[in-house]
Amino acid sequence: MKSAQALRLGMKDMQILPVPRQRAHLKKPTWIIVLVSLVSMFLVCAYVYPPHNSAACYVFSSHGCKGISNWLPPAPARELTDDEMASRVVIRDILSTPLIVSQKPKIAFLFLTPSALPFERLWDKFFQGHEGRFSVYVHASKDKPVHFSRYFINREIRSDKVVWGKISMVDAERRLLANALQDADNHHFVLLSESCIPLRDFDYVYNYLMYTNISFVDCFEDPGPHGSGRYSEHMLPEVEKKDFRKGAQWFTMKRQHALIIMADGLYYSKFRDYCRPGMEGKKNCYSDEHYLPTFFHMLDPSGIANWSVTHVDWSEGKWHPKSYTAQDVTYELMKNITLITESMHVTSDERKEVQIRQCLWNGNERPCYLFARKFLPETLDNLLYLFPNYTMI
Ligand SMILES: *[C@@H]1O[C@H](CO)[C@@H](O)[C@H](O)[C@H]1NC(C)=O
Ligand SMILES: *[C@@H]1O[C@H](CO)[C@@H](O)[C@H](O)[C@H]1NC(C)=O
Ligand SMILES: *[C@@H]1O[C@H](CO)[C@@H](O)[C@H](O)[C@H]1NC(C)=O
Ligand SMILES: *[C@@H]1O[C@H](CO)[C@@H](O)[C@H](O)[C@H]1NC(C)=O
Repeated sequence: MKSAQALRLGMKDMQILPVPRQRAHLKKPTWIIVLVSLVSMFLVCAYVYPPHNSAACYVFSSHGCKGISNWLPPAPARELTDDEMASRVVIRDILSTPLIVSQKPKIAFLFLTPSALPFERLWDKFFQGHEGRFSVYVHASKDKPVHFSRYFINREIRSDKVVWGKISMVDAERRLLANALQDADNHHFVLLSESCIPLRDFDYVYNYLMYTNISFVDCFEDPGPHGSGRYSEHMLPEVEKKDFRKGAQWFTMKRQHALIIMADGLYYSKFRDYCRPGMEGKKNCYSDEHYLPTFFHMLDPSGIANWSVTHVDWSEGKWHPKSYTAQDVTYELMKNITLITESMHVTSDERKEVQIRQCLWNGNERPCYLFARKFLPETLDNLLYLFPNYTMI
């Protein structure tokens, strides 16, 4: 429109020019008309098709895409709800407040189990000699376990029933975090199940978790039926489908992240109410696989590693991951798991897209895993025997 106008204006100028001088003056205005038209068309195109790749950006502006986006009216942003505004201001504040560094920072190991902990003797070996640098909390949802290790005696917290796939699982995780947060020396928090084992010695685990600013929360986008297919529009406006994420529940997290989970009522209630088994008659949604990945993706995406440091083997392609038997547990198996340096996610749509990422720790390639599951109780003797060897890898 601008160019057409410019053209018409130019023509008018041409018409009023005295005839004898027309020939001499024709060249200049023609050039101006062509130039103005080109620039106008350029601007119209830039407005209609904002450049998405950096090459296009440099054609339009020497400052890259930022330059061009400054000329355009801002995309209409969704107005935040009152709850959302309140939630975000609290979360931002917690994340930007530096941690009061304790003189003796500890890692809290949070065990989520129905009853017994079959690998207590292995964990006892793992903890031995490192008193004062860790604390243990046990959430036994069915029966009070009988303990074999002094590190576990009297470490149960008040528990409640946990139903697989239901919000009660998330509630138990929050209960463990709340109890562990009471001790200001706890700087990092690790969630483990009764079938989890340590893959490394204590010092390795301690340094890996303490000397980084990242939480190891598993998170990826799965467009398939077991990913975004579980999303419900009842979660709107606060949780949009494009932000819905998936990941294994076995996290490790820094203190600020544990605190923002305590502060969150809004996103938690969305998942409690609209992500549960048997939603809308047929859809199954499991909060323990979606709440935390989605929450961190929305509120602190660069604060999480996007993979879990707890290894599990899904390669059999069944409903449940592989359970290791006594026969499976050899030095070779342990070495294989320990040396993995890439994390893998597979989408649940027809494409079954495999997403492989290098595990980066403070920017450097490092082995991905500190713990592993699922080990059957019968593997205990093998693991106790091999522990001093495989943790030396
Ligand atoms: C973690 O963040 C703090 C504060 O931003 C910074 O001083 C420290 O160097 C960071 N540590 C690592 C390991 O990145
Ligand atoms: C995790 O993924 C998000 C995108 O969802 C990305 O912004 C973030 O940088 C990733 N984290 C790390 C540590 O690379
Ligand atoms: C260990 O890894 C090697 C090489 O990938 C493989 O050939 C072998 O079968 C693996 N062993 C076990 C016990 O997983
Ligand atoms: C442990 O490692 C040592 C030295 O590499 C080796 O001699 C020993 O056989 C190993 N033990 C087991 C149980 O693999």
